Amino acid sequence: MTNINTEANTAAPALKGQGKKLFIKTYGCQMNVYDSERMAEAMGSDGYTQVDSAEAADMVLINTCHIREKASEKLYSDLGRLRKLKKDKPDLKIGVAGCVAQAEGAEILRRAPQVDVVVGPQAYHRLPAMARAARAGQTQQLDTDFPTEDKFDNLPSARAARGPMAFLTVQEGCDKFCAFCVVPYTRGSEVSRPAARILDEARSLVDRGVRDITLLGQNVNAYHGAGTQGDLTLAGLIGALAKVDGLLRIRYTTSHPNDMGDDLIAAHGEVPQLMPYLHLPVQSGSDKILKAMNRKHTAEQYLRLIERIRAARPDILLSSDFIAGFPGETDSDHAATMDLIRQVGFGAAYSFKYSARPGTPAAEKGEVDGDIADARLQEMQALLSTQQYALQATMVGREVGVLYEKAGRLDEQLVGKSDHLHAVHVTDPAGKIGELVRVKITASVTNSLKGQRIG
Ligand code: SAH
Ligand code: SF4
Ligand code: F3S
Repeated sequence: MTNINTEANTAAPALKGQGKKLFIKTYGCQMNVYDSERMAEAMGSDGYTQVDSAEAADMVLINTCHIREKASEKLYSDLGRLRKLKKDKPDLKIGVAGCVAQAEGAEILRRAPQVDVVVGPQAYHRLPAMARAARAGQTQQLDTDFPTEDKFDNLPSARAARGPMAFLTVQEGCDKFCAFCVVPYTRGSEVSRPAARILDEARSLVDRGVRDITLLGQNVNAYHGAGTQGDLTLAGLIGALAKVDGLLRIRYTTSHPNDMGDDLIAAHGEVPQLMPYLHLPVQSGSDKILKAMNRKHTAEQYLRLIERIRAARPDILLSSDFIAGFPGETDSDHAATMDLIRQVGFGAAYSFKYSARPGTPAAEKGEVDGDIADARLQEMQALLSTQQYALQATMVGREVGVLYEKAGRLDEQLVGKSDHLHAVHVTDPAGKIGELVRVKITASVTNSLKGQRIG
């Protein structure tokens, strides 16, 4: 029986999960990584501790991604494996969170009767009560509400930092409705968190040793959260965060080109803590395709924007997302994308083969032949990796900041991220994790740099 229970908070008996073990598997974007941590904390306050395998767990939570077909299919292959595990361990509870949970909701419970809890991204604060109800025998809890209460107000915020770099969600949801994308449906409309809460969370992260914070949002540069004197833009928020003692680096992702305000561009030249790395997805270099995607800008406008950003911060490393084989894409549209890539010169990039998603306008359109889309994707990826390695090689001889994140594989070696987000290996017997040091880059290898500490 499907119990569509959105009132688990009040309905569930007080049955704490003392001594219970939780395994979380996370797919998708950085926001899912952040959300998984928050769910682990929420469940932690209910007595659960985290373990790193399903076999060792009393509850398994799969935090899903719906962005492309392949991503969402992973849920059902995981659930197949878990069904077997549950046969041996009937008390095992299975939860599904994230964007597939939001998009498919009751359909998951129907297809996979072994699932106990389905919880959408806006209802995570209700998860402990749902888990309690499941343990008390109430099967198949579903909550995919977009409640009026703010989940962030209800989740515990004192979190244990797992190293000197952390994510911090400042904005969630999207109002852009790109023709191919499920995010506006799975994450809902844009909501910005009030600046005071973000500042509190940032201070608490710094107290726990975090030095580098990436502000997260599906459309992070559309941020317009309440400040002490009216709403703040993302640039305003970054300005406020730059005053937090001990916070040495600030980054943000993901941005939409149309929301790159003048103040944000200027901040790249003015705020020393704002790192010279910007992920600014363009998706295509063809105006016809950009229009069909509902991106609401042209290739030329993107190029002019890049010029202005580079004028503010000449050494900024640019990254982007691309889609190959969007419906209606011809060889000449693809050539226009290749052209745009050549003109910009990206230091990092993610490219994907178009995947038709149920409920999106583009899914109604005729698809490009799969082999043609594959060939275009490969051509694009070859050019993008050439650019990435060429740009990485220009770092050799330069002095950069490196924040040590973990021990390297070699003795006395530490690995950290540079200002431009390159992984850098440094032999430094005196170095400590969490320390920000000056490094001279000595070599560029496949996916990282090597360097010598100079300060
Ligand atoms: N909020 C981000 C994008 C999140 S999705 C932004 O606006 O940039 C991350 C990337 O996945 C997108 O930039 C896009 O390149 C890709 N993507 C989204 N939907 C897709 C689809 N249906 N098929 C293939 N790639 C897709
Ligand atoms: Fe999706 Fe477009 Fe919104 Fe990005 S801006 S999340 S691609 S709809
Ligand atoms: Fe995937 Fe949802 Fe993130 S669809 S990319 S997990 S916002």
